Formats: sequence, C-alpha cells, structure tokens
Amino acid sequence: MKKVVILISGRGSNMKAIAENVQTGNLQNHCEIIEIFSNKFNAEGLKLATKMGLKTFSIASRKQKNYNELLFEHLKKLAPDFIILAGYMKILNAKIVKHFNRKIINIHPADTNLHQGLNGYKWAFENKMSKTKITVHFVDEGLDSGEIIDQIEVDISNCQTLLEVEQKGLKIEHKFYSECLLKIIE
Ligand code: GRF
Repeated sequence: MKKVVILISGRGSNMKAIAENVQTGNLQNHCEIIEIFSNKFNAEGLKLATKMGLKTFSIASRKQKNYNELLFEHLKKLAPDFIILAGYMKILNAKIVKHFNRKIINIHPADTNLHQGLNGYKWAFENKMSKTKITVHFVDEGLDSGEIIDQIEVDISNCQTLLEVEQKGLKIEHKFYSECLLKIIE
C-alpha cells in the first residue's frame, strides 16, 4: 500500500474522484490517502474531503512568508510515497521537487507541450480547437514542464461554450487521473 498525499487549492473534484477510487474503485488496495493538504484554509475541496472522512491540513500560503519551508517540513514528516497535485495552484519550490524526485504528479488540462499555466480549457476553446489533450506528468522545477506520463485526447468539436468544454474535460480527467496513478503506483 503506497501512502499518498493530495494537494489542492480549490474545489477538489479530481481529489474527490481519486478518493472515491481509493475507497471503492481501481485504486483500492493500491494506495492509502494519508492527507488532503491545501494552501487555502477555505478551499471547497477541504470540506469535501472532511465529508469523505479524509484527514485534512492546510498552511495559508498568503499569510506565511516561509510557506515553502513549512510545506517542505510538513511533507518530509508525512513521508508520502507519492504527492498528487489536483488543482494545486502554486509552483512547488526546487527543494521539494528535488527531495521528492519522480514522486510528484500533476494533471494539466491541456497538452503541456503546447500550453502551460492557467486556463487550459479556455485556451483550447478560444483557439477554436476541435480537439485538445489532458496531460498527466511528473512535476519538475518548471511550470508544467515535467516528463509526460500519459495524455488523453478530448474531442471538443461539438462544444458550444467554455463551460461545455470544461465539463467534458473534467469528466475525462476524473477517470484518466486514477488510471495513470495506478500505472505509476504499481
Ligand atoms: C483541473 O482542470 C486540473 O486539470 C487543473 O486544475 C483543475 C482542478 O480542478 N490542474 P479540481 O479542483 O480538481 O476540480
């Protein structure tokens, strides 16, 4: 059983999907979620995690000047086998990335070769793309620049609004992330 910690900043729908798969889906008996961590005290996903019976913890990145140092010490204490980023909106510093080399995984709602940073679905929608990709990758010191683990194509040719693109993409993310995690964990 691998110990995993999930880092979030917001609504936590990917966190929820992973947690459900740990409880009753493809990740059952493969890993144990030891904590849901957030850099925001009021992240919606923390409430969701508590409801699901998961242990939560947060350090306010806006209030703590030495946030990265505190996070590093916290993660070292937890000693997880994997750190899963699920809508975690901060860049992890070099110290953390080096210490947990190839143990930090992220999901990005675009092809990381073509678009890095925020608003991946908006980028695809505004560029009138008929297809986009979702990428699961290892985290390195850069912005969405780590080694790609796997990608999945999303057909958005029939989507009329950005909301439709996001809804379609997220539904795929929720299944795809756990499938990729299983490959890595095994
Ligand atoms: C997802 O689109 C994910 O790919 C990106 O941030 C979003 C997080 O959504 N990294 P949620 O908090 O998991 O609902």
